Amino acid sequence: EALKKEVEAFEITNEATLEQFRQQYLSKKGAIPELMSKIKDIAPEERRNYGAAVNALKQLAEEKWRSHKERLEQLPEAVEPPIDLTLPPLTEPMGGVHPLSIVRRQIVQVLERMGFCQADGPEIEDDFHNFTGLNFPPDHPAREMQDTFFIERNPDILLRTHTSSVQIRVMKNNRPPMRMFSVGRVYRNEAISARAHCIFHQIEGFFIDKAVSFADLKQTLYHFAKELFGKETQIRLRPSYFPFTEPSAELDISCNICKGKGCNICKYSGWVEIGGAGMIHPNVLENCGIDPEEYTGFAFGMGLERITMLKYQIKDLRLFTENDWRFLEQFEGLF
Ligand code: PHE
Repeated sequence: EALKKEVEAFEITNEATLEQFRQQYLSKKGAIPELMSKIKDIAPEERRNYGAAVNALKQLAEEKWRSHKERLEQLPEAVEPPIDLTLPPLTEPMGGVHPLSIVRRQIVQVLERMGFCQADGPEIEDDFHNFTGLNFPPDHPAREMQDTFFIERNPDILLRTHTSSVQIRVMKNNRPPMRMFSVGRVYRNEAISARAHCIFHQIEGFFIDKAVSFADLKQTLYHFAKELFGKETQIRLRPSYFPFTEPSAELDISCNICKGKGCNICKYSGWVEIGGAGMIHPNVLENCGIDPEEYTGFAFGMGLERITMLKYQIKDLRLFTENDWRFLEQFEGLF
């Protein structure tokens, strides 16, 4: 009788108490089998009643165990930690602007203040806009200066290797004076390393009008460099070659990291290259229906990654495309 009360009163609330119940009453060493084993000590005339009572108790306990087991199995698992609606919400980390976007926006602002208007062109180009219109002769080694991803051959369709293709598009569809720029992705078949990538970005600018001179180009680049890298920045133009400009130059800025004292970035020269420039070749003007006797123009092209690396002292180009949160997080909040 006492044991029956006990079995009835036992509270089964979870898996642990269910198992405890089983061990205490039903398992081989439990209380009910123990009662059963005592049947041989009972007087023969009472055995019948005794056996019936113990059997009833056993059934009761088994039934209780089974029903609780079923109930617990049906409970949804997630009930354990109750949700505390009074807790303050978890704050999500704020996203930031990608460093290339930060610098691109600065460049756009500087060029727009100087009166340049933004133009756009496709990343999938034909041979004319990427090469032929820009005065690259068919078999000239200059075509190999820029290892190209071809999509189709004859007629050639390719991923543009520079933003100078946008120049051709704008020049064909507009009349001078024009002062335009374009920013965008370009593609070259290069092995990816800390200093080279097959996808990168260029900024292209050009100005065509009557009597535009090399001095105008130089002053524009000088102002641009000071706006972007600080008032003390100097520029240097080194003679170079591009099929679409004559004369052509490589554009260097004074190293803003060591300020001329010498560092790894400028290889102890005090200067770092950021792009190319020159006077638009008469053939290019002619290819776009502009009379080179009447108009002259300058053009410049620069690498967005290169400029961003110099501004933020980033030493590996691959960081821009890896999307490593620890890198990107450092530019957070610069909206
Ligand atoms: N298109 C050249 C390059 O990708 C850069 C350039 C642009 C040079 C405009 C001169 C004038 O290397």
